[in-house]
Amino acid sequence: MNTTQIEALIKQMTRMEKIGQMTQITTSFFNVDGAKATGTASRMKDVEQHKWIVGSVLGKLDAKSMLRIQRDYLQHNRLGIPLLFMTDVVHGYKTIFPVPLALSCSWNPDVLRRTARVSAVEAAAAGFQVTFSPMVDLVRDPRWGRVMESFGEDRLLLGQFGAAMVEGYQTDDLQQSDTLAACVKHFAGYGAAEGGKDYNTVDLSPLSLYNDYLPPYQQALQAGARLMMAAFNTLNGVPATANTWLLQHILREQWGFDGTLISDWGAVKELIPHGVAASSADAARLSLQAGIEIEMMTTAYIEALPELCEQHPELEQKLDEAVKHILQLKQELGLFDDPYRGVSEAREQEMILHPNHRHAAREAAVQSMVLLKNQQVLPLNSTQKLALIGPYADNRHLLGPWSVDGDPQHAVTVLEGLQQQGMQVQSLSTDDSHIEEEVLHQAIELIQQSDVILLALGEREEWSGEAGSRAHIGLPHDQLKLLRIAAAAGKPIVVVLFAGRPIELEEVARYADAILLAWFPGTEGGHAVADIVTGRCNPSGRLTMSFPYHSGQIPVHYNHLNTGRPAHLLTQEKRYKTQYLDVPNEALYPFGYGLGYSEFGYGNIDAGTGELSANCPLHVSISVTNHGPYAGCETVQVYIHDRVAEIARPVRELIAYEQIQLNPGETAQVDYTISADMLGYYHTDLQYRADPGEFELIIGPDSRHGSSVTIRLLSNET
Ligand code: GLC
Repeated sequence: MNTTQIEALIKQMTRMEKIGQMTQITTSFFNVDGAKATGTASRMKDVEQHKWIVGSVLGKLDAKSMLRIQRDYLQHNRLGIPLLFMTDVVHGYKTIFPVPLALSCSWNPDVLRRTARVSAVEAAAAGFQVTFSPMVDLVRDPRWGRVMESFGEDRLLLGQFGAAMVEGYQTDDLQQSDTLAACVKHFAGYGAAEGGKDYNTVDLSPLSLYNDYLPPYQQALQAGARLMMAAFNTLNGVPATANTWLLQHILREQWGFDGTLISDWGAVKELIPHGVAASSADAARLSLQAGIEIEMMTTAYIEALPELCEQHPELEQKLDEAVKHILQLKQELGLFDDPYRGVSEAREQEMILHPNHRHAAREAAVQSMVLLKNQQVLPLNSTQKLALIGPYADNRHLLGPWSVDGDPQHAVTVLEGLQQQGMQVQSLSTDDSHIEEEVLHQAIELIQQSDVILLALGEREEWSGEAGSRAHIGLPHDQLKLLRIAAAAGKPIVVVLFAGRPIELEEVARYADAILLAWFPGTEGGHAVADIVTGRCNPSGRLTMSFPYHSGQIPVHYNHLNTGRPAHLLTQEKRYKTQYLDVPNEALYPFGYGLGYSEFGYGNIDAGTGELSANCPLHVSISVTNHGPYAGCETVQVYIHDRVAEIARPVRELIAYEQIQLNPGETAQVDYTISADMLGYYHTDLQYRADPGEFELIIGPDSRHGSSVTIRLLSNET
């Protein structure tokens, strides 16, 4: 069906049929087992009479129910317009990969691409055609529960990893039956919610929006994403759902987005509690005028648009634009040619949890884990007697938030992973929050019989994710008590940490000899932990979000501004400088940081003349040596600091990175081409360009260490 045919189809549609296409309900309205109409779904009006004209559904599904629903729907839909099936496949469908914040610590777009590819193959086999992913909200506040869903605090990585997931979901042919259309979210600035409280107010300056928060959404759209989801939050006073500046001026006019714009769950009617709409009719009008084309899980459009269009005929054109995008999406997915998209129970059975998918999930989990500390304790060997103790010792709940279709029963526990690798291990599982004295005594006994103590500690899955905001981001008191008791035994302690956010680790770092951050590693988590602690794999993960000493430091991120009294420059000044009196200024573990089992050494930067211009980039090079003893992967990171600019610029900003695999004793030359464009930023006129002048160029293993040279941009005139 081409554009002309779509426009002809729209002409045949009644106004109510158009409004139906712009409404999304859950699969519970089609009696899918296990899906129930709760919350907003139970408050939706007139759905039963309109369910054969709604344009899309979200929620629980499998191949059998998709085939049934689509068949019934097409029998009732007057014009035979196929139904669209959407879902939240965020880090896997049935084979669950590490949470996105963990995946980002691989610093490898191929890992993100492969995760999305496997997710699409499995979810498409179950009947889905759209996923609400990637989430590319920039985050600087670990109190916010959804940091686990983001790729961290750096806009370059967010954009690259978001784009990689879009490519993995969609490939270059969305008509292929094993693809999913990607929906970028949450537009915009959702990660900057005040106080880290979900759905909360967001106030961002135009420069902060343009330089930090908006680029990742744009980069994900440039990768071809076919949908965008508006965020729950207000942005500078106007809810994103009704924010015409954001949804029309930026998204449609400046960026030329031609895909479909969907609200978040219930967000259209939430304009009423936001205080910008007095009624459902107001909410419908504001959302439609701003450009919301699919109303997710409320019925303001169904309830109010028929009359609103009578009163304001100009709104009819908005309906036609919206329906055109929705029908084009269905056409791009091939649904007019095959509404079932080749779905079959046999293919679903073949694809779900395929061994190749589990292998990919295990590899991704290994590359996502970050070794934060290791004082000659790891890797372990099979002659050592291990005491594995804690809430995650033998726990299958490793999938993390947003693994709605995953099943913990498919997950491999840490104990199973260690046992399968032939380690001598005895385990004692504990509660994550209340560890009874009796259990502590059992722990002491187990510790006395062991050589090395592995404490598998962490957050509960539901303490992060949507609506998972926490003011205290440390470990529960009883887990720290267990740590102190273990420390008293005077034996090596390895802490394996399971979390969906940066955790306060100052006390853990004091007592543990090694800390492996496992995040929520997914279905293959136990195997991946064992792969690393036994030395089968050399850890290579690097943090993409800073770990503060204390939540009182938040927001804490590497790419902060200098201020007029930067503490690191005023070392003689005791008081009057940018600092806390009671905790250090910087993060405990900084952005880009991570250890491995090998030492990597860096040579000096060779920057040639050190000069570049808009037409003549600068080639820089540095040697990196693996001093052993293991083969390993090093992520060489390139940062700049713009010394004098029109606006204050970050003390460090990542502009490039490269991963190199080196054998022990091997040296590699790592080359970069620095272009003027990489040195640019949005100025107060909101135009992007670089300023001629001096830049500090830093190359190193993380955002805190490295060697630097001064380079000079001679001219930004092309
Ligand atoms: C949720 C989330 C959004 C998700 C949607 C559908 O409230 O904010 O990320 O895609 O609803 O489940």
